[in-house]
This record gives sequence, structure tokens and C-alpha cells, in this order.
Amino acid sequence: MEQVDVQAFWKLLRPEVVVWAVAEHEGQRSICPLGWTMRTSGAPPMMAISVAPSRYTHGLIEAAGAFVLAYPGRELAQATLYCGTNSGRDTDKFAQAGVTPRPAGQVPAPLIEECVANLECRLVDQVTTGDHTIFVAEVVAAWVHDRPGPLLCLVDASSGYETLLVEEGKYRFGVVRE
Ligand SMILES: Cc1cc2nc3c(=O)[nH]c(=O)nc-3n(C[C@H](O)[C@H](O)[C@H](O)COP(=O)(O)O)c2cc1C
Repeated sequence: MEQVDVQAFWKLLRPEVVVWAVAEHEGQRSICPLGWTMRTSGAPPMMAISVAPSRYTHGLIEAAGAFVLAYPGRELAQATLYCGTNSGRDTDKFAQAGVTPRPAGQVPAPLIEECVANLECRLVDQVTTGDHTIFVAEVVAAWVHDRPGPLLCLVDASSGYETLLVEEGKYRFGVVRE
């Protein structure tokens, strides 16, 4: 056993499913790709996401009290990189990423037509945890594409992944092979 910096350990947790937190309030909206998410309850179904307060999406989630979790597939690797390295304060990510917002049933944020799945989430609680906020939410509706493909993951250089979808700087996107 070798003692390492915790950053080195976190790489072992890959592949990490990437999800977009989509939030909208009073006409302002954004898409914030996230790696740090988890299921927290089966009945009722609940999820937790970890979002840094500096993200534009953080304020939108607090103001709206709700968000959508949209799961991208392989076609949205480039869009994920764009949305994860630019802020909705400065850009219309829906236009730039070329994705189609569709009205959700129970929350103000839109579903993303091109995503593999979309979850409508109502904020239940939030906890400050170091440099991020955990938003805890109940999943009030779930949508899955007619022919769902594999989910986009943040991956390392191991074999067994289809890894060359998009690679830039510290980000490498792929899907686990079907
Ligand atoms: C693959 C990937 C995973 C990310 N995971 C997180 C995360 O878990 N939490 C977070 O706060 N930011 C995360 N980010 C960074 C945000 O997506 C990024 O800062 C984004 O530009 C914020 O957009 P906004 O200012 O419009 O909200 C991630 C980015 C990428 C590309």
C-alpha cells in the first residue's frame, strides 16, 4: 500500500456517469454537467447532487426549488464538454450545444430531448459540504428515450471503454462498451 493524495484515489472511481443538472428560473436557464451524484432513497425515489456555489446553475436551483437531471449519451460528448467549461451567465448553452428543450410536467426546468433519460426533481433539502452544496431532491417523474443507448461517462485511459469520443485537457469522455 502506498499513501497517495486523495485526488489520485478519486481517479479510481471512474468510469463516472455524467449527468446534466438543468435549471430554470424566471426565463434564466442553464445546463451544468455533474459527476458527483448519487441515489439516496428508493421509496420515495430521491437523488443527491453536489454543486459548487460558483456555478450559475446553483443559484437557479435554489431559486426554482427544482431541477431536471438529464443523462447524455455518446452523441452529447462534445456538448457536455462545452456546457461543463462555460457558464450560463455568459452563453445560451441550449443554442451552443444544439439541444432541444421540451417542457417538463412538474418542474420549471425543461427536459432535454436528445438525452437518454430525464428525471424531474423537486428540491427537498440542501447541505453545505466543503466547497460544494449537496442538493437533495425527490424524483417526481422519469423519462427514458424509446431506444436508450449507453450513458456518457467520464473515463480514464483503461481498456474496455470507447474512450475517444472527446478528449481535451483533464476531460476524457467515453461509454462503457455494449
Ligand atoms: C465531466 C464534468 C463533471 C463535472 N462535475 C461537476 C460536479 O459534480 N459539480 C460541480 O459543481 N461542477 C461540476 N463540473 C463543472 C461544471 O459543469 C461547470 O463549472 C459548468 O460550466 C457550470 O455551468 P454554470 O455556471 O452554467 O452553472 C463538471 C464538469 C464536467 C465537464
